[in-house]
Amino acid sequence: MTVRAIVEYPAAVLLSPGDPVVTFDADLETLVRDMFETMYDAGGVGLAAQQIGLALRLFVMDCEGLKLVAANPEILATTGEQGGEEGCLSVGKIHAELKRPERVVLRAQDVKGRLFEREASGLAARCFQHETDHCDGILFIRHLSPVRRDIVMRKFRKIKKDR
Ligand code: NI
Repeated sequence: MTVRAIVEYPAAVLLSPGDPVVTFDADLETLVRDMFETMYDAGGVGLAAQQIGLALRLFVMDCEGLKLVAANPEILATTGEQGGEEGCLSVGKIHAELKRPERVVLRAQDVKGRLFEREASGLAARCFQHETDHCDGILFIRHLSPVRRDIVMRKFRKIKKDR
């Protein structure tokens, strides 16, 4: 297993939709293992392939006891609303308040290509949405109000400068 380098905003790969995963083979299994390793190493609860520089619709997560691989993810349904903070390994782990639906149904394929549906609420539902957004080339900062986005960007620039 290899810890891969995490790509940060404003890398182009983070800002455009990934290609569908079409081959479910040993290489994909290796990639998924590396993604878990990279996510744990960075202290994250979810990681999309774009975040290690691969334009693929693929993410891994391990959040509130829900550990899974999602290839070609889609959010099928959302209900309710939750408050809470959200951050991203590609944006310096800076957190900002962001409202999201409380409960969501995810449809995706596992590492063998088998279709599945999973329902989740709370933080796991937030993770489904955040990571599916990554696969679509959308960062959480796009959902923030201009004022909040500006605060995150300023903190992020400072973190990068201080490294
Ligand atoms: Ni993220």
